[in-house]
Amino acid sequence: MNSIIFKTILLFTLIQIGCRKTNVFNPTRPDPHSFSRPDLAITTHLDLNIRLNFDQKKIQGTASWKIQHNASDRIIFDIMDLTIDSVILSDKNQNTAFAEFYVQTQDSILGDELVIKIHSNTEQLTIHYSTSEDAMALQWLDAELTSSKKYPCLFTQSQSIYARSWIPCQDGPAIRFTYNATVQVPVGMMALMSATNPTQKNKDGIYSFKMEYPIPAYLMALAVGDFSFSPIGARTGVYADSMILSEASWEFADLEKMVNSAESLYGPYAWSRYDVIVLPTGFPFGGMENPRLTFLTPTIIAGDRSLTSLLAHELAHSWSGNLVTNASWQDFWLNEGFTTYFESRIMENLYGKEYADMLSLLGQQDLKKTLKDMADQPGMSKLKLDLWNKDPELSLSDIAYEKGKLLLRYLEERIGREEWDLFLKAYFKHFAFKSNSTEGFLQFFNNHFPQIDIKVLDTMHLFIYQEGIPDFKPGWSTKLFDQVDSIRNLFYQTYDLKKNLTANWSTHEWLHFIRGMDLSKSEEFISALEKQYQLSESKNSELAFAWFIYLIQSGNSMKFKDPINRFLEKTGRRKFVLPLYEALAEHGQMEWANGSFSNFRRHYHPVTIQSIERVLIH
Ligand code: BES
Ligand code: ZN
Repeated sequence: MNSIIFKTILLFTLIQIGCRKTNVFNPTRPDPHSFSRPDLAITTHLDLNIRLNFDQKKIQGTASWKIQHNASDRIIFDIMDLTIDSVILSDKNQNTAFAEFYVQTQDSILGDELVIKIHSNTEQLTIHYSTSEDAMALQWLDAELTSSKKYPCLFTQSQSIYARSWIPCQDGPAIRFTYNATVQVPVGMMALMSATNPTQKNKDGIYSFKMEYPIPAYLMALAVGDFSFSPIGARTGVYADSMILSEASWEFADLEKMVNSAESLYGPYAWSRYDVIVLPTGFPFGGMENPRLTFLTPTIIAGDRSLTSLLAHELAHSWSGNLVTNASWQDFWLNEGFTTYFESRIMENLYGKEYADMLSLLGQQDLKKTLKDMADQPGMSKLKLDLWNKDPELSLSDIAYEKGKLLLRYLEERIGREEWDLFLKAYFKHFAFKSNSTEGFLQFFNNHFPQIDIKVLDTMHLFIYQEGIPDFKPGWSTKLFDQVDSIRNLFYQTYDLKKNLTANWSTHEWLHFIRGMDLSKSEEFISALEKQYQLSESKNSELAFAWFIYLIQSGNSMKFKDPINRFLEKTGRRKFVLPLYEALAEHGQMEWANGSFSNFRRHYHPVTIQSIERVLIH
């Protein structure tokens, strides 16, 4: 996570608030980021029937929703840039009738409200619709931007509020539904969803899916492309373009072990299979926890299995997030803080405490930086956020992830690991397939630990409802990083970083080394490091990124223009490209940044493009 993303979104949102009227607190609309009114009528099951048109970059078809209501006269859906052609109602005897509907234009961030008149006996409604070229969830890639370059590719990214840009839906995390889908794609391509999935392409290009467990709309996902499958364990496997499939399955060899470890911590895996898919470089995030099929960036394939904590993270969401879901994006820390904590426990189980502690310390470094950048927006450093009138993307900062994790670590240390783990297990069981708010969590905690020390409760409240970080020093071991610090000091004197000193370093020691480097070091110093280690050519995306940021911030970017541009071209992950463009812009390289962005823009996903535009185009 990067604080720059947070800053730019915040600025943009503040500008936008002046232009908007509708996203204000509304007691009958419980979710600040959905227009749906579950008190009127609520969706419970979706039958999706869609065709993909790669020439027009368009999805077209029907969304048939089973609904529940108490003789309501209308139901409200979220939509964004959708064309609604018609709506047909049916009752329990399958009598059908065209419905009256209208679209209430609402909001540049949240999209529009689709209001459909229903009858007292309406049980299902079928919406005929199509998507637009601007759909925020969709990235359409021409064949040349995939590894094999034979077929084009499409994938979705629905979290947080973009499911509404490809399916008319009640798009709030507290509303869950099951789904079946039929998806027609060009022959020769494979379609995959957050559901039961095929392992082979079929001849007619028509694929059927079933998600029998209720999920919120932000977990609706579709990927279509030239994919192949390779099993890893009995219930795990990987999909990828065949060009990178074997690399991916080597990198993720521990996936089945991770699932077993997660189960041993917090109870049975609830979704039957756990597969992952490596998407083309344009995928805007590190990973996305779509149920049964995590979507991944190819930037985690480092060739040495060093970036797989991201797998542990997405897997952990199968409990925190997918099973127990934040009630609104104001409670986002319940998804990401719990997951970041859980991720760290899986990493510790598999690779030991020293390794997991390094990851935790790097996370705390990110948190410190975020807090510094947030100095003028302290309200955003609370775990529980007030996002009425704000873009839900604002919740996406290290506060939710790392401050959230720190709170859980605090509770673990105070309560004791054994009892704490029993609590978490009970928590996931109690709220399984439900949404939960911060207050629901607190209440469950109070009931579970009636005798808890009042000081612990106080500190917990400080974490959740107050700015900044309460006084707590977690017991993570700094031993390995202390060694790195002394080696860095030695290097400052000798300009020679002996290979035998770094031979046992993992990516994480390297990251700590680079992040801690003095920005005023001379060119000679940079050349010495580059000559010995060729960091600018590193295949490890995290390392290359950290090094490039250092080069730009220390005023040494020009000499490395080619490798930095190559990185910007082949990487679409927002966490990397956005800070790089921003650093270039801030350090006198606006022209370079604008030129590269216009060259590589078509490689990036709409959410990445939107974020970069906020930084570059003033
Ligand atoms: N669910 C998030 C990604 C997300 C959050 C997308 C909010 C859109 C809105 C995912 O689990 C995540 O946290 N991904 C991280 C990786 C993680 C290891 C920190 C990412 O993409 O960098
Ligand atoms: Zn996450």
